[in-house]
Amino acid sequence: MALTAPPPDLPVPSRPLRRWVLGVTGGIAAYKAAELIRLMVKAGLEVQVVMTAAATRFIAPLTFQALSGRPVATDLWEASEGAGMDHIDLVRQADAVLIAPASADFLARIAQGMADDLLTTLVAARSVPLFLAPAMNQAMWQNPANQRNIALLKEDGAYFLGPGEGVQACGEVGLGRFWEPTMILDALAPVLGWENAPDLRGKKVLLTAGPTVEAIDPVRTLTNISSGKMGYALAAAAVACGAEVVLISGPTALPLPEGCRMISVRSANQMRDAVLDEIHDTDLFFAVAAVADYTPANPSGHKIKKTGEALTLKLVPTPDILATVAALPRPPFCVGFAAESQNLEEYAKQKRLAKKIPLIVGNLAQRALGRDDNEIILFDDQGSHPLPPASKSELAHHILKHAFALMRQHTLSS
Ligand code: CTP
Repeated sequence: MALTAPPPDLPVPSRPLRRWVLGVTGGIAAYKAAELIRLMVKAGLEVQVVMTAAATRFIAPLTFQALSGRPVATDLWEASEGAGMDHIDLVRQADAVLIAPASADFLARIAQGMADDLLTTLVAARSVPLFLAPAMNQAMWQNPANQRNIALLKEDGAYFLGPGEGVQACGEVGLGRFWEPTMILDALAPVLGWENAPDLRGKKVLLTAGPTVEAIDPVRTLTNISSGKMGYALAAAAVACGAEVVLISGPTALPLPEGCRMISVRSANQMRDAVLDEIHDTDLFFAVAAVADYTPANPSGHKIKKTGEALTLKLVPTPDILATVAALPRPPFCVGFAAESQNLEEYAKQKRLAKKIPLIVGNLAQRALGRDDNEIILFDDQGSHPLPPASKSELAHHILKHAFALMRQHTLSS
């Protein structure tokens, strides 16, 4: 996905917005709302799903009911506990309304103040902030009538999350893609009370993420099982805080976080070269990648044939990218990661001192690898700071906040 608009100018609520009405409208992207609900629930938010009739043609309410743990509301006319006043009740109980995905038709209807089904009615009856994550064909997005509706909705105070640019479900390319659920959540971080998001405008954040892949021969490699999720979550969090973000990544199955510049690499040596090319104007460097510590000394140019004998591979050490950056004459603020299988505290502290970095994030490899959530401890000059278990998106915001605060202290004291 290509670069998109900067993070929206979100409201600063007096208290975190924890109770959400999530409206799902009809469109191919409706299935992505399932992942969004899962992430929202995981982040500790209450999610009441409301679907339009068109949305139920794309995905069954039962899916959202199972994910949100609450019955899904679809019908304006269904008799209920609220004395037939579902729309008012749902909005009274919510801190915010998010429509994701929001179709062109739905935007048109709410821009005109229509209230002819449950979701349009509760949008009309609300007094809480309205967030809209649009998804539609690029020609529909550009259509002047749609653009007029968007301008009207913005004028009325709605906040737009997306759309992104890229290949669409219909095969066309352009603006109109639904933001990835993690991006939506990251963009909402400032209103979720995860932290007071640091202001990273004007700062460059460079990250390494994912595994590296070391060639043995043209068809065989040495690699590891890092998914890249933590690095990508941090990149997305840094974008949401306004930074210029460059993500240097080994191969992963993850979508590029919206608003990042991505440099794809395979080996540890390629990753080191890409980092050194980008480092000169970097303010914050996060070494999240699981870099291979060794690489085959003489990768074979041709496929190694089976001989029936034992095969000995000679491995040589790879460059330590983080230590190299930290040893530069004027290094950026460096944050390392220590994934250990035992003795976390001892090894993480040793690693921080050995690599001469101000902050290291310690986690247990078996608890972290490939998962969406994690439990981490931050180690700095002041000691250790354990964080409660949380989604990687949420942890990314905490890490960023801690790193930024330390970076400011370092700048002030140097
Ligand atoms: N790292 C790096 N370059 C390497 C190895 C590691 O930049 N060649 C970075 C990682 O991105 C991480 C930190 O160093 O931020 C620690 O990585 P880890 O693999 O846990 O530590 P190692 O120094 O490789 O030590 P060991 O494998 O012995 O635990």
